[in-house]
Amino acid sequence: MDDIRDEENTAAPGPVWFVTGAGRGLGRALTRAALEAGERVVATVRRADVLTGLGAEFPSTLHVATADVRDRDAVRAAVASGVDRFGRLDVVVNNAGYGLVGAIEEVDEAEARGIVDTNLLGPLWVAQAVLPHLRAQGAGHIVQISTTGAVGAMPTLGLYNAGKWGLEGFSQALAGEVARSGVRVTVAQLGGFDTDWAGPGMHFATPSAAYDELRRELFGTAEVPWHTEGPLGAPVAEAVDALRRHVQAPDGPFRLLVGADAPDQVTAALRARCEDYADDDRFTWPAPAVTA
Ligand SMILES: NC(=O)c1ccc[n+]([C@@H]2O[C@H](COP(=O)([O-])OP(=O)(O)OC[C@H]3O[C@@H](n4cnc5c(N)ncnc54)[C@H](OP(=O)(O)O)[C@@H]3O)[C@@H](O)[C@H]2O)c1
Repeated sequence: MDDIRDEENTAAPGPVWFVTGAGRGLGRALTRAALEAGERVVATVRRADVLTGLGAEFPSTLHVATADVRDRDAVRAAVASGVDRFGRLDVVVNNAGYGLVGAIEEVDEAEARGIVDTNLLGPLWVAQAVLPHLRAQGAGHIVQISTTGAVGAMPTLGLYNAGKWGLEGFSQALAGEVARSGVRVTVAQLGGFDTDWAGPGMHFATPSAAYDELRRELFGTAEVPWHTEGPLGAPVAEAVDALRRHVQAPDGPFRLLVGADAPDQVTAALRARCEDYADDDRFTWPAPAVTA
């Protein structure tokens, strides 16, 4: 067994990826792109059978581990099995996540805990599990799949916004903690992409009539769960290309805008924030240059 592993690890150069939520959507597309480029991937899924086909296509470069990212022990076991198989991890993509449509007043306790456990604590458990390996290697890149909704917030997406804002908060602190160990951290702020996220993957709180008018204003219908058809955003291949280019470059921004719609969304959110501060005449933006 060890001989086979040594052989597959010498034969396959390039980074070893660790991708959560690799069964569908962006996670699957990233996994396939890496495998097609000859790279190795530790793909985590909740049900191993969803990657049976891909496993048959890439038996020596795909390692499938089963983990629900809410389960800290399962995440640790998935990381350990990946390191055992390929000897290292280079690019760790915290991708698993979902959206929740519900006004703050509508979201129940299980829904609130569920999305925070998945979108915020899941990436935390993954980061904690991989960091000892990345620090020991003196290299590695953690890519947090975030959203332009982590810069602003939208009515009825508040718990989703909260989870991703939290993800960005701890990730910025983390970047400062691990840079000296040679570990990079990126938050990838995605615009809209055509995955299951806004369709079958979306969760919905039980609607209250008090928010029907708001839903009609935002979505054109008060009815939830909504019915979706047609592309739900840009082709996911565009996100894959942008993320692969970013990790291949020797350096780059901490916040990566991903998608043609992302820059305008972030600009609008930052402008609104600056306008909110603007009545306070101690606040000036752009900030004056600091002189020594
Ligand atoms: N698509 C967009 O427009 C968009 C925009 C901004 C940000 N994002 C972010 O992009 C990431 C990927 O989403 P996507 O667009 O690819 O959506 P998707 O097609 O709905 O895929 C979501 C993935 O997350 C996994 N997942 C959900 N909960 C999980 C849990 N508790 N444990 C393990 N895996 C779990 C799902 O696994 P199962 O198959 O087991 O359910 C699935 O593989 C998410 O973090 C999302 O917030 C997407």
